[in-house]
Amino acid sequence: MDHLLMLLLLLWSSELQAEEMHTSTEATRLVGGDSRCAGTLEVKHEGDWRPVDYSYRTLKEAAVFCRELDCGSAVSIGRREESSKRSVWGISFYCDLTGSVLRDCLTSASSSSILDLTCSDSVRLVNGTSLCSGRLEVKSNQSNQQWSSVCEDDFDQQDAEVVCRELGCGAPSVLQGALYGEVEAPIWTKEFQCGGNESALQDCRRSGSDRNTSSPGKAVGLTCSEPVRLVGGASRCAGTLEVKLGDWRPVYSSYWGLKRADVVCRDLDCGSAVSITQRKESSERSVWMFYELCVYSGSDLRQCLTSHSSSSILNLTCSDSVRLVNGNSLCSGRLEVKSNQSNQRWSSVCEDDFDQQDAEVVCRELGCGAPSVLQGALYGEVEAPMWTKEFQCGGQESALLDCRRSGSDRNTSSPGKAVGLTCSEPFRLVGGASRCAGTLEVKHQGDWRPVDDYKWTLKEAAVVCRVLDCGSAVSIRQRKESSERSVWSISPHCVRSRSALRDCSTSDTSSSILDLTCSDSVRLVNGTSLCSGRLEVKSNQSNQRWSSVCEDDFDQQDAEVVCRELGCGAPSVLQGALYGEVEAPIWTKEFQCGGQESALLDCRRSGSDRNTSSPGKAVGLTCSEPFRLVGGASRCAGTLEVKHQGDWRPVEDYYWTLKTAAVVCRVLDCGSAVSIRQRKESSVRSVWRISPDCVRFGSALRDCSTSDSSYSLMDLTCSGQQGADAAQTEEH
Ligand SMILES: *[C@@H]1O[C@H](CO)[C@@H](O)[C@H](O)[C@H]1NC(C)=O
Ligand SMILES: *[C@@H]1O[C@H](CO)[C@@H](O)[C@H](O)[C@H]1NC(C)=O
Ligand SMILES: *[C@@H]1O[C@H](CO)[C@@H](O)[C@H](O)[C@H]1NC(C)=O
Ligand SMILES: *[C@@H]1O[C@H](CO)[C@@H](O)[C@H](O)[C@H]1NC(C)=O
Ligand SMILES: *[C@@H]1O[C@H](CO)[C@@H](O)[C@H](O)[C@H]1NC(C)=O
Repeated sequence: MDHLLMLLLLLWSSELQAEEMHTSTEATRLVGGDSRCAGTLEVKHEGDWRPVDYSYRTLKEAAVFCRELDCGSAVSIGRREESSKRSVWGISFYCDLTGSVLRDCLTSASSSSILDLTCSDSVRLVNGTSLCSGRLEVKSNQSNQQWSSVCEDDFDQQDAEVVCRELGCGAPSVLQGALYGEVEAPIWTKEFQCGGNESALQDCRRSGSDRNTSSPGKAVGLTCSEPVRLVGGASRCAGTLEVKLGDWRPVYSSYWGLKRADVVCRDLDCGSAVSITQRKESSERSVWMFYELCVYSGSDLRQCLTSHSSSSILNLTCSDSVRLVNGNSLCSGRLEVKSNQSNQRWSSVCEDDFDQQDAEVVCRELGCGAPSVLQGALYGEVEAPMWTKEFQCGGQESALLDCRRSGSDRNTSSPGKAVGLTCSEPFRLVGGASRCAGTLEVKHQGDWRPVDDYKWTLKEAAVVCRVLDCGSAVSIRQRKESSERSVWSISPHCVRSRSALRDCSTSDTSSSILDLTCSDSVRLVNGTSLCSGRLEVKSNQSNQRWSSVCEDDFDQQDAEVVCRELGCGAPSVLQGALYGEVEAPIWTKEFQCGGQESALLDCRRSGSDRNTSSPGKAVGLTCSEPFRLVGGASRCAGTLEVKHQGDWRPVEDYYWTLKTAAVVCRVLDCGSAVSIRQRKESSVRSVWRISPDCVRFGSALRDCSTSDSSYSLMDLTCSGQQGADAAQTEEH
C-alpha cells in the first residue's frame, strides 16, 4: 500500500480536526473558464471566496458542484499547480459530499494545488448507472433555461455521438426511447440535426418548426460507452489500462483488486477479470489513481479517479470469451461463452454439452481453483441464446475455445439446463491448533501466500470463518516476521462488500502477517454484532451440523462460557427466541457448565437426550460489548477505551467525526455527541484503531477494531445522560 498517501491523509486529518464549524451561507462559482460552467472552483465560506484544494478530489464530488451550479454533468477535473501556496478551502476526506452539507465539510488550508472543473453546461444524462448513461436532458433559451427531455423522434445516432463527446464519454452504445424512465413535460420541441462532428449539442442545427408536443413520444435514453481501454496487449481484452477523464492516462496500480478491475472488463465486453499486474516504468508520469475512500457502484469507476504521479502502472487481463455470471464471486456463476460461432453474442451452455474436464479448463482460464460444483440451473435458468456445440476438452487446454467441439449442432429446441459452475476459492488457515485457527493464506494467480494485516478487523475475519465453516471470528493478531515477503494485501472495504477474498487481493510485500482465530464449534447468528445472536453449536454429537440450543438446556453459567469463548464481554441478556425462532435441528443435551470452562464443548452435558418433540425456544444471547469513557468529569466524557482481546486500550484519533462519536454516546445512553478532541501523549502506546466507516454502517466498535500504536488519542464529550432515570446498562 501507499504509505506516503496514508501519511498525507493523516497529516491532513489532524489539521481538519482543529477546524470548527460555522453556519455562514455557502456559495460556489467557476471562474476563468470559457463559460459559467467551467473554470476554477471557488467557494464562499465565512464570507471569504477562495479556490478549493485539489487533494484527492474526484469527478464524483465535481458532479455535486455541477448540480449545485445547475450546470449539467461533470466532464473532467483538473489539477492546476501554482508557483506558491495560497489560502484555499479544503474538503474533509471523510465527508461524502453527496450526503452532506458543504459547509460541514470545509476546512481552511493552504495549498498550491488548485481544483479546476468542467461541467457540461447545457446537456446532461439523468437517472443512469454512471455519468455516461441516463435520460437525456437539454437546456437553452429555447426551453426558457429549464431542463427538458428530448423526444426519441427528434434525436438520432449522430446527435448521440455529439452528446457522448460533449460529456467526455466514449462512443454511443445504446440509444433507445424510455430506456431510463419516461417523463412528463417539459419536452424539447425541436428536432436536432447534428452532423456528428460538433463538439456540443447546442452547436447542431435544429428543425425550424416546433413539434406537436401534445403527442407523447418517448424520452431519449442514452448509454455512451465508458472511456476506458486496454492498450498494447495481445488482444483488446488485455494490456495497460487507460482511462479518459479530460485526457487519456494510464492508471496507478495501487488500490486495485480483481473486483474493481472486473468493472472494466465488463465495460469492454471482455468477460471477467483474470489477473492484474504492476508494470514499473523508469520515471514518474501523470496517471489516474483510484481514490480508495470513494464509494462507487456499477460502472462509475471514472467518478473515483484522481490525478497522481507514479511509475507503477496497472496491466489487466480479462478472460475475453468466457465468463461466469450471477455468481457470488468471479469464480462462480452461470457459464457464458462468446465466439464467432455465436455471432459474438454471449451464450449460455447446455449441461449436456459440458462435463468435468471442460469445467477444469474454464476454472483454469478464469484463474480460479479447481471446479467444486458443476450443475445445471445452479445460477439461474435462461432463455436462448444457447451455445449449440458440445465441448470436448481433454482437460489440459488453457482456454475453452481451444477445445475440440462436436461437429453437428445440438437440437436447440429441447430446452436443457444452463451450466452453473463453482470453481473453488482457495484459502486456508495454517499452523494453528486446528483448521479454524492460524495464518490466513490465499492462493491467487497460482501462488499460496499469507495476507498482510493491513487494516483488518473482526468483520473481515468473520467472512473467512464463515466460509471455512468455522463459527465466528474471535481474534486477529499481527505476527511480525524478520524480513519482508510476498503477501496478498486484501482491502477490508472490498471484503465487507460481500466479495470473495481473491477478488479483493493485490500483490504486495510485508513483514506483518495476519493470524486469526475462529470459534470453531460455537457461534451467534442473526445478531447485531459478533457478540449477539441466536446460539448455535456443532459437534460430532450433532453430526457436525450447526444446531440451535433449547432455552431449557442452557443457563447463565453456560452463557458465561460462550461469551468468553467468543472473546466478548460478560453475558448481558439471555432469553429464548430473542434472535428469532428456528425449526430443527436442535441440540439434544443439556449443558452443565461450571462457568469457568474456556469452551462450551468442554462442559459436562446431561446423559440422556432431551425429548426433541417439545418445541421450546432457541437460546438468544447478548454478550456485553465493553467500552467506556474515562478520566472525564462524568461517565459521558473522557478518553474512549475499548476492551478487545482481553485488553482495555484507548482508541486512536483516526478520522473520527461527530457522526461516528454519536454511536458511542447513544450506546452509553449519554445523549448526543458534542465534541471530539485529539490528545497527544508523550510516547507511543498500544491503541485500538477503529475505522469510522465500519462503525457508521451499524457495526459494533469491537468488530471494527484493529491493533495499532499511536500517541494520538481521542477524547470525546457527549451531551449527557438522557432522562433522569435512564438505566445504566454499559459495563463501566
Ligand atoms: C431521477 O433523477 C432525478 C433528478 O436527478 C431525481 O430527482 C429522481 O429521484 C431520479 N429518479 C430515479 C428513479 O432515480
Ligand atoms: C469530421 O471530422 C473528421 C476528423 O476531424 C473529418 O475527417 C471529417 O471530414 C469531418 N466531417 C464533417 C462532416 O465535418
Ligand atoms: C397536435 O396533435 C393533436 C393530436 O395528435 C391534434 O389534435 C392537434 O390538432 C395537433 N396540433 C397541431 C398544431 O398540429
Ligand atoms: C503490460 O502491458 C504492456 C502492454 O501495454 C506489455 O508490454 C507489458 O509486458 C505488460 N507488463 C506486465 C508486467 O504485464
Ligand atoms: C428436435 O427436437 C424436436 C422436439 O424435441 C423434434 O420435434 C425435432 O424433430 C428434432 N430435430 C432434430 C433435427 O433432431
